[in-house]
Amino acid sequence: MRIGADYYPEHWEKERWKTDAEMMVKANIKVIRIGEFAWSLYEPEEGKYEFDWMDEALDFFGKYGIKVVMCTPSATPPKWMIDKYPDILQNDIHGNPKLFGTRKHYCFNSETYREKTKKLNTLIAKRYAKHPAIEAWQVDNELGWSNTTRCYCKSCENRFRSWLKEKYGTIDNLNKTYGTTFWSQTYRSFEELNIPKAGACYDTCHDTQGQNPALLLDYYRFCSDSVVEFTKESVDTIKEYSDLPITSNLLDAAINSGTGIDYFKLSKEFDFVTWDNYIEFQWGKAKPETVSRDHALLRSYKKKPFWVMEQQSGPCGWSKLGPTPTPGKLRLWTYQSVANGADTVVYFRWRACPFGTEELWHGILNHDGKPNRRYAEVSRVGAEMEELSKNYRALMPRARVAIIKSFDSEWSQSIHRQVEGLYYDSLLLDYYRPFWNMGIPVDFVTAEEDLNRYDLVLAPMLMMVSDEGKKNIETYAQAGGKVLFSFRSGIKDMYNNMLTETVPGVFADLAGVEVEDYDPLLEKTTATTGVFGNGMAHMWCDIVKPVTAKVIGKYTSDFYAGEACMTVNQIGKGEVYYLGCDLDEKAMKMLAVYLGRKAGIDMDLYKVDGVEVVDATDGTNDALFILNYNDHSVIVSMERSYENMITHETVENVVELKPYDVAILKEAN
Ligand code: GAL
Repeated sequence: MRIGADYYPEHWEKERWKTDAEMMVKANIKVIRIGEFAWSLYEPEEGKYEFDWMDEALDFFGKYGIKVVMCTPSATPPKWMIDKYPDILQNDIHGNPKLFGTRKHYCFNSETYREKTKKLNTLIAKRYAKHPAIEAWQVDNELGWSNTTRCYCKSCENRFRSWLKEKYGTIDNLNKTYGTTFWSQTYRSFEELNIPKAGACYDTCHDTQGQNPALLLDYYRFCSDSVVEFTKESVDTIKEYSDLPITSNLLDAAINSGTGIDYFKLSKEFDFVTWDNYIEFQWGKAKPETVSRDHALLRSYKKKPFWVMEQQSGPCGWSKLGPTPTPGKLRLWTYQSVANGADTVVYFRWRACPFGTEELWHGILNHDGKPNRRYAEVSRVGAEMEELSKNYRALMPRARVAIIKSFDSEWSQSIHRQVEGLYYDSLLLDYYRPFWNMGIPVDFVTAEEDLNRYDLVLAPMLMMVSDEGKKNIETYAQAGGKVLFSFRSGIKDMYNNMLTETVPGVFADLAGVEVEDYDPLLEKTTATTGVFGNGMAHMWCDIVKPVTAKVIGKYTSDFYAGEACMTVNQIGKGEVYYLGCDLDEKAMKMLAVYLGRKAGIDMDLYKVDGVEVVDATDGTNDALFILNYNDHSVIVSMERSYENMITHETVENVVELKPYDVAILKEAN
């Protein structure tokens, strides 16, 4: 457990490095990440390489015992390269090439870009593989950030055609699968297929692009695969020379929805994953449960501890600033990361840069580089982590509940939203939130992975599932697991076509229900009552007909008053729940309590508003984190005696937390 900083030796005079290194050591900053945007420094002209500046920086910071995460600089192909090889540039959805002048302007499928990246990565890996300061590698930076996964250039079009040929074998097969008889879209060869750019309908139907949904989903998968393939190439290049762990910095769920990379697949390429955590900035303030959900996703991609590679450390924004982190918040956010599975938290950035697009984006230090309030707070965290590390290795929350996250379903639902206001990602958060409120950790899983370590598995809007995934869920239920499906689950095949089986299609037998009629609630609400108390649906109502299932919730308004909205079906030793509507926050909370209890989880834990409780363990030692997000003090009552692992005081009956304060407790022997 430790802290670090993102550092740019190239932004500062060398005379300053000494002050920086000394201040870092004093603050217990153990690791720096460097070099992710330095392509033009390494290769100022084609084939002319300069490494001295990096040699010097590594030797210098290494002498202070500071470890380094070394990056490949592929996120910033330089100007000379773009001018000479314009095919490197990404094309946007209208087919226009992006401009040089920011970053991430490249296409993952450009042969030239791939070749140039490989060449430089090879030189970097070879040169630095054995440098004693380096402890890990980062590939690229925020792969796919700012809608750069989906490119619409000629190279992508060609590769996409080959990808389709590989998948479908014959064009007849593709035609049949895509249903191209609809609107006379039959293709005669793979060469005839266009990449799905903004279509004829785009201006009026921009939500859907107007294109064939099966083609769109394939294109999204192809783009995600292209990023994974590019990443694998970079990882393999490093591996030829170095045994050190390799990672990259991923993005939060909301941004990833736009990014469109299947992170479960991408994460397989890495030894560990990391992400970039900005909480309050120019573009808004994230709620604590949203940030925890993002941490939960990160620990879930590999089911192991992760890092935060960029953690907010000052007021942030590009053109305007968000608020300065109130005293205590940097510490609070750091422990929120640690409680949820982060092993190392690296602050972005060490010091605010006086030039460039991000001249307003503050780091720990302001532009003046002097020790300040934030430096003092980070130093406090650094010292505490030293203390905590004596007793703990990386901690992971003890999750007994899991939510199935399906990138296929997410992309499918982004193509056809089903109803106004419905977002896959937000629906998953609606299921995550009540457990978070009660201090019950939740992991995210794929339908195909081992579910047996969880007592309760939730599958909101699992629109499509592989045969293997379906079998896996069924086996889990048969053996005694509790599973919940929501409305719009099981309705599609893996090609993104609607199934002809009665809703919920693939899951009808498991849920023991049939849905003949459903009501997408545009501009109205429907009242319900059931095991979740009284609740209101705002988006969707399935009129659920039990076949083998038992009714445990009903509608109380509209023409379907008295009909079922929720059921439970016995499958082997387990139970499968079906919830045919969305519910308000209060009802979702009661539903979580109901399902948790059914699954044998103690649901009467912590219910102080604005307080996150995380029960974590490093495998040997346990830690109960109590995090206060309120701007006022709170008192949390405790049933047992604990030791405060930072102050080593005994905690009996209650723990009092000041605004934004944190307690890390271990049960007294
Ligand atoms: C991240 C990125 C950093 C920096 C930061 C602030 O998305 O990885 O390089 O740009 O945001 O904008």
